[in-house]
Amino acid sequence: MSPKLPDFVDKKLKALEEESFKPRKNGKPLVVGNKPPGPGAVVLQSNDYLNVSNHPDIFSEQIRVLENIGKEMVMSAVFLYEGSEKSVFEKSIAEYAGFENAVLCQSGWAANVGLLQVIADAGIPVYIDMYAHMSLLEGIKAAGALAVPFRHNDIGHMERLIQQHGQGITILDSLYSTMGDIAPLRDFIEVTERYGCVSVVDESHSLGGYGYKGAGLVDELGLTDRVHFITASLAKAFAGRAGIIFSSSYFAKYFPYMAYPAIFSSTLLPHEIAGLQATLKVISEADDRRVRLHEIAKFFREGLDALDYNIASQSYIVSIESGLESDTETLRDALEENNVFGSVFLAPATPKNRSLVRFSLHSGMSTAELEYVLEVCEKIRDKTGMWNWKSTKKKVLSTKGA
Ligand SMILES: Cc1ncc(COP(=O)(O)O)c(C=O)c1O
Repeated sequence: MSPKLPDFVDKKLKALEEESFKPRKNGKPLVVGNKPPGPGAVVLQSNDYLNVSNHPDIFSEQIRVLENIGKEMVMSAVFLYEGSEKSVFEKSIAEYAGFENAVLCQSGWAANVGLLQVIADAGIPVYIDMYAHMSLLEGIKAAGALAVPFRHNDIGHMERLIQQHGQGITILDSLYSTMGDIAPLRDFIEVTERYGCVSVVDESHSLGGYGYKGAGLVDELGLTDRVHFITASLAKAFAGRAGIIFSSSYFAKYFPYMAYPAIFSSTLLPHEIAGLQATLKVISEADDRRVRLHEIAKFFREGLDALDYNIASQSYIVSIESGLESDTETLRDALEENNVFGSVFLAPATPKNRSLVRFSLHSGMSTAELEYVLEVCEKIRDKTGMWNWKSTKKKVLSTKGA
């Protein structure tokens, strides 16, 4: 048996037990341990937006490499040679996104932490949207830089903070993973350029889903030449286990020798890289899936809106903000009783008392499934107390005021 942990560790574990693990009034914890989806359930928890995770071309490429590799190289990427599968993939994906270069990382987390650790420094202000991903904040901490959060999607606020603290780094997510809303990218770039700052856009949720052949939202808006760095998790539409940083060749040359996650953590395995190379081809050729995904998302958002749910989404990530955790628990249970499974998000992934159930839609959904989820959302409105949620009241007020 392991030795007993001292109080300072135990206190933290107990606090989490109280907050998230302890059964609530329905006998279930809020986040973990809810019932597993049974046969016929509509599961909207995966970020495989283009429904490619079981694509035969990707599997066969991974298997081909596994069967032929001989011995896998298990080591840090700093020891890889020019011409490795990693550098071939980096060239292909950079070309796809319209960037000079790209650096493949072990995850979106490693990409963001590594990037910020390298480009930021003690005393450098880093302007970051309050809803941007936690990994970016961890990168700022790793660099010992000053995090200066601005109000969500409020570029005017970002500009006032730059005027106060000076030239630095500006960061946001192009598509927000909690509410599915889209960042004001044009304004962001204009203000960033006006003050000579360095721009970082996390496209984890938009790469694959927007832009020419899925090259992302920055591409869709024609802003590629004006952004310094784009990062993305390749565990969303790319359905793999990796991350990417798009950058200049100048930067990409130094990153692997400066970023701690690149130096001190092993690189991806050859069959994983081969899978990503095959995924890139599948995604580039998936215009039909993208069209279907956006059609589905529009239909679903409009359906929920007509049922008086207050939906902030502009994309295929669609969340219902029930607010209080007790209300989110009731909503989650009501959905699950009807065989519909979303993901519960609460603090620290959302602000306190703004918890929600998120639906990640994917292009493989049938119209019947979408209609079914909408029917369930209609049926459970009274039971969940939806009319009394803060978000619903806000919507009713704004509609009356209009
Ligand atoms: C916006 C954003 N950035 C980065 C990450 C981290 O990506 P990964 O899961 O590949 O580490 C995520 C994943 O949750 C994300 O949503």
